[in-house]
Amino acid sequence: MPGASYQERRGQIETYFDRTAADAWSKLTSDVKVSRIRATVRAGRDEMRQTLLDWLPADLAGKRLLDAGCGTGALAVEAARRGAEVVAIDVAPTLIEIARERAPRDLGSGSVSFQAGDMLDPAHGHFDHVVAMDSLIHYRPQDVVKVLAGLAERTSGSVLFTYAPKTLLLAIMHAAGRFFPRGDRAPAIEPVSQGTLRGLLDAETSLRGWRPERTRRVSVGFYTSQALQLVRA
Ligand SMILES: C[S@@+](CC[C@H](N)C(=O)[O-])C[C@H]1O[C@@H](n2cnc3c(N)ncnc32)[C@H](O)[C@@H]1O
Repeated sequence: MPGASYQERRGQIETYFDRTAADAWSKLTSDVKVSRIRATVRAGRDEMRQTLLDWLPADLAGKRLLDAGCGTGALAVEAARRGAEVVAIDVAPTLIEIARERAPRDLGSGSVSFQAGDMLDPAHGHFDHVVAMDSLIHYRPQDVVKVLAGLAERTSGSVLFTYAPKTLLLAIMHAAGRFFPRGDRAPAIEPVSQGTLRGLLDAETSLRGWRPERTRRVSVGFYTSQALQLVRA
């Protein structure tokens, strides 16, 4: 299990997504008009969500999928439409409420159970696939790898997640972000280079049975995120 830094960061993330940014996040993940900058983030996020969905089997009937840090639930709903039994967890109860309100009643043979809680809670059970879209970007790379190890232990198929790649442009944007008043800021994003992340993944003994299969960077305007697919070796 990840240590104190994980718990501490999770507390900040909960405060941010449950209160500070709940309204902004609700708008960003809807169809309402947003600023030009946020529109690029929305477009990038749509592309990332589609990338992750494309890496999952087209037919998810009978499969159990964890949407780890589901936010307002768009990916969970799409996976359920393909027949999956989705467990969608978020530490921010406000976002879970919004996700429940937005979810369509009819999901065919699929289903989504939206629950407020920690994605790492073993009570969620075992999965065929786990997807963590942009929900690990605020944790330190060492903690991210521990989280992945914990999730992988209970997963038989694939673990898909995204991280903030360390690039010069991102470093400048993050430095600029530090000029905003503390209360308005999101918890810091923890960019990591592909090499460092791969090294940490290789060194994690509980991930010995797993290997990286595919990776893709999505970069649209103010959104940059990199997806990595881990599969059983
Ligand atoms: C950037 S948002 C992305 C939400 C969603 N995956 C999406 O792409 O629309 C990150 C989400 O991860 C959630 N999160 C972060 N750490 C978590 C944890 N340990 N357990 C559950 N949810 C977590 C946050 O509350 C937030 O809603």
